[in-house]
Amino acid sequence: MSALDNNALVAVIGAGAMGAGIAQVAAQAGHRVKLYDNRPGIAAQAVAGIDRQLGRLVEKGKLRPDTREAIVARLQPEEAIEALADARLVIEAIVENLQVKQDLLRQLEALCADDCILASNTSSLSITSLAAGLARPENVVGMHFFNPAPLMALVEIVAGLATKPAVAASLYETAKAWGKKPVHTRSTPGFIVNRVARPFYAESLRLLQEGAADCATLDALLREAGGFRMGAFELTDLIGHDVNYAVTCSVFDAFYGDFRFQPSLVQKELVDAGRLGRKSGQGFYSYAEDAERAQPTELQSPQTIEHCVIEGDLGALQPLVERLRDSGIALTKRAGNGVIHVGDATLVLSDGRLASQRAREEGLRNLVLVDLALDYRTATRVAISWSADTAVAARDQVVALLQRAGIKVAALADLPGLVVLRTVAMLANEAADAVLQGVGSAADIDLAMCAGVNYPRGPLAWAEQIGLGYTLRVLENLQSSYGESRYRPSLLLRRSHAQGARLHD
Ligand code: NAI
Repeated sequence: MSALDNNALVAVIGAGAMGAGIAQVAAQAGHRVKLYDNRPGIAAQAVAGIDRQLGRLVEKGKLRPDTREAIVARLQPEEAIEALADARLVIEAIVENLQVKQDLLRQLEALCADDCILASNTSSLSITSLAAGLARPENVVGMHFFNPAPLMALVEIVAGLATKPAVAASLYETAKAWGKKPVHTRSTPGFIVNRVARPFYAESLRLLQEGAADCATLDALLREAGGFRMGAFELTDLIGHDVNYAVTCSVFDAFYGDFRFQPSLVQKELVDAGRLGRKSGQGFYSYAEDAERAQPTELQSPQTIEHCVIEGDLGALQPLVERLRDSGIALTKRAGNGVIHVGDATLVLSDGRLASQRAREEGLRNLVLVDLALDYRTATRVAISWSADTAVAARDQVVALLQRAGIKVAALADLPGLVVLRTVAMLANEAADAVLQGVGSAADIDLAMCAGVNYPRGPLAWAEQIGLGYTLRVLENLQSSYGESRYRPSLLLRRSHAQGARLHD
């Protein structure tokens, strides 16, 4: 199936933040674009706004003046919907209301050609419901851009029950031709990104609620150990807690209250208080002019460490060995069960059990657990937790070892799965379930999470890298610690592990 011809007229309805951005993308790709908004003058204002933005790019030398003129000349504001009759593709980005969108689609169906593609930028409504009752529901498809549309590469192409595969395929190719990274998905709650990303917020919110550490420390760990652009608290402060909480509630409700998506009372309280984040001046952090930036807490050690013993294969922790060696620490290697002996302490990668539980079950003295890192060779901070009977002096030997390697150490309460590990395991679990349920392919889901929300690695590729068996064990241990279905492992993880198969085909 081929992309829409460059000569085809594109119409965009709703000239707000998203509509204006989408119109700009289509015009930049060479299409003539008609932009319509039911509030008089808004479409023209939006075109003027795009012109100003492109002007700034010209000033920075990033765009040629004649290219700017050509793009703006292709953008035509319209004051009457009837002017859109000759469009081959209409993308609506109006108010997020099922009834209003359905009425608009019905009007468009009567107005436009029989083969006109009717695309919706909805981020939460069902494409199947939007198309229901139309004469040609096969022409209705989701085209979900991310904000700001000109900058964000991801576009989710959402097929409803009636959507003709050729229509979705043509829109996919069109998005590609517009320089975007499209993915195919089915009309299910949250599509890909807004579903698979839920644990990113949920696990941090839960860790905060359970007293694992403060916001700044947890955020710093997701950034500096996890490689995420932002931690969950700074990100939700930026998104707005009203918006983020509403998305979580809508996905939770849509899945009939599946506890995997359970909203957080901690976030609800912020919403109730009007602490919506940056836009209200206060969320998890204060944005008052005189506010001091909250700093992550860090453990310091009075000890020095020159030597440690590496026993057996450390699994996902193995790259740390290289870092330790490069830091001048003398290493002794011997057979064993994947532990590092540092002075009197035993250091292991968490497997989702509590430190105190693991120490007892495996008879490990002075046990310290370390969290997962995206790349131990470059991580600048990691979390540790320790068993109730671990001596402070032994713990400090681990801290000294990591500090010697240039890694800052954060102390967490003894909670299962620490921060990065449980977040990654839960992201991979949700992604696996989405694959299992045909929401998208493994490749598309990983691409969506990297291109749509800037994850440093696709959750499924990440799980494969640390091992499906290990990811599964972490989830099982989390589930057993909490006794909740929230942490139940996806059947796909279990099956792929049992079959020795890969998630990516
Ligand atoms: P917005 O409020 O900035 O713009 C909506 C525009 O649609 C307004 O200018 C309004 O006058 C116009 N409008 C409302 N009803 C209309 C109608 N019946 N006919 C013509 N124009 C109408 O909203 P925003 O943020 O641009 O969102 C638009 C759509 O995009 C929604 O469906 C939203 O869920 C979706 N979306 C929003 C994202 C975001 O980050 N804001 C991201 C991805 C999707």
